[in-house]
Amino acid sequence: MPLATAAAIRAQRQRWTSLDPLLGAPPPPADTAGGTVLACDGGYAVATIHDNHPASFQATWSGRREHRLQAWVEHPAALDELLAAWKRQLADGARCRPGGDSQDTRVVIEWPTRDLAMDPVFIAHDLVPAAVLAIRQGTRTTERARSVAPTRVRTLVRSDVDTAAALWLEEIRWDARFGMVTERPSTAANIRSALAVAAITPDPWTWVAEQEGQVIALAAASAPGAGKPLKALVGSATPVYLNCLSVAAPARRRGIGTATLHALHDAVEAAGAGAIVALHYLTANPLAQSFWRAHGYRSLTTLWIAKGLTRKCPPWLSRPGGGFA
Ligand SMILES: CC(C)(COP(=O)(O)OP(=O)(O)OC[C@H]1O[C@@H](n2cnc3c(N)ncnc32)[C@H](O)[C@@H]1OP(=O)(O)O)[C@@H](O)C(=O)NCCC(=O)NCCS
Repeated sequence: MPLATAAAIRAQRQRWTSLDPLLGAPPPPADTAGGTVLACDGGYAVATIHDNHPASFQATWSGRREHRLQAWVEHPAALDELLAAWKRQLADGARCRPGGDSQDTRVVIEWPTRDLAMDPVFIAHDLVPAAVLAIRQGTRTTERARSVAPTRVRTLVRSDVDTAAALWLEEIRWDARFGMVTERPSTAANIRSALAVAAITPDPWTWVAEQEGQVIALAAASAPGAGKPLKALVGSATPVYLNCLSVAAPARRRGIGTATLHALHDAVEAAGAGAIVALHYLTANPLAQSFWRAHGYRSLTTLWIAKGLTRKCPPWLSRPGGGFA
């Protein structure tokens, strides 16, 4: 590894761990096969392309094609140079591919939320903070549900699957209006099969809330250890990941979301001290930010994406000659 690369990795590790005790040290560049290495004075990056099959569940939260950059930098100027090089590379690549990346493509870079010195660089490169990875570490919130009617929260059973699937789809349609989520022809079937599996699992980590026998809310999580380890988290811990929290629209703002979430928090606490719950929410979702903050969640990383990429190619990606105005 060139000395300059090692210095960038070291500098970034020091900066990130001093900014946020929950952040893991940025992993060193792993296998760069299939990726493109970009380097500059004080910086090193690997650009990769990820294609999602449209029928995969992942395609609901992603583009058909996703361009990602993993970067290690000593200072903002290095990030600036790497982003400019990445965009030139994307523009060249798009021109070389017939039909190229013009549809359903997303350009993403995930960065610690507290590394504020880099925000102006992302913004100058037309990237927007579209989503955050939020986490909550093991503390009980004092706020309890204030529901207007008696609410029973219990684990999912087979007869709930259809109603629970409709609630999850409602959440996806809600998020879709903010541009980062896409309801695919396969989305409903993928939701249904995930819930059908959960419903026959002894400890499903999936709860529903009911009032007067009607299911009106869903919280669907992965069991501790069942999700993917989050590279961004300290020690690559495997958190409980909350895939969906959804309350039927007419039942919102009556404490039902809180009551349903508390079932998850109680289970996390029973599973062991220090357990972490993680989730993604869209920064444009007006129902999300204050709700999650009130329940002890805070942002760990931000997903910066290129504007408009969920539907169409951004101008700098399609413009002959690349670059950006
Ligand atoms: C986000 C969501 C799950 C919250 O569910 P909810 O049942 O409305 O949640 P609660 O009623 O417990 O709390 C919501 C708000 O109502 C307030 N509230 C709770 N009980 C209340 C009551 N009896 N009277 C008035 N307000 C009340 C809470 O203080 C909270 O205020 P805040 O948003 O300003 O913090 C729900 O809005 C939803 O399903 N949204 C669409 C899908 C979505 O965005 N999911 C999250 C994706 S990350």
